[in-house]
Amino acid sequence: MSISEIPLIKFENLTRDFGSIKAVDNLNLEVHEGEIIGLVCPNGAGKTTVIKMLAKILTPSRGRIFIRDKDNKLQDIATNPKNLHKSGFLIDIPNFYEGMTAYDLLKYFAKLQNYSKNKIDTRIDEV
Ligand SMILES: Nc1ncnc2c1ncn2[C@@H]1O[C@H](COP(=O)(O)OP(=O)(O)O)[C@@H](O)[C@H]1O
Ligand SMILES: [Mg+2]
Repeated sequence: MSISEIPLIKFENLTRDFGSIKAVDNLNLEVHEGEIIGLVCPNGAGKTTVIKMLAKILTPSRGRIFIRDKDNKLQDIATNPKNLHKSGFLIDIPNFYEGMTAYDLLKYFAKLQNYSKNKIDTRIDEV
């Protein structure tokens, strides 16, 4: 298989239930390099739930999500989430922690992302 045939993100039989509600029902989707994907469907169809599972905010009830690593191997994010550190998510309406300054907040997220400690302050000043 050539590199371009290996997807960057792969959703496999992805399913998520909330009690009796099936929010996501057996999604199979591949996202390839350079593609821009839009999930277009009515409210309540499960878009946010899919993205939350990709971000590992929610765990799938069934199925798997893979991300291609730097060696072009598909890694299950459940067992190998390292590639997620390079990902950014803006899900629905963002919430910020009250009582934190913009600076505190950026510092917090930089630490979560394992950003080099000695570069954090400089980078925050830049942005
Ligand atoms: N935390 C939750 N608990 C219970 N039901 C939920 C939860 N999150 C989403 N749902 C339900 O799952 C379905 C899909 O929701 P969602 O992923 O937010 O849809 P979309 O983003 O496409 O509008 C809806 O029926 C919604 O009410
Ligand atoms: Mg939504």
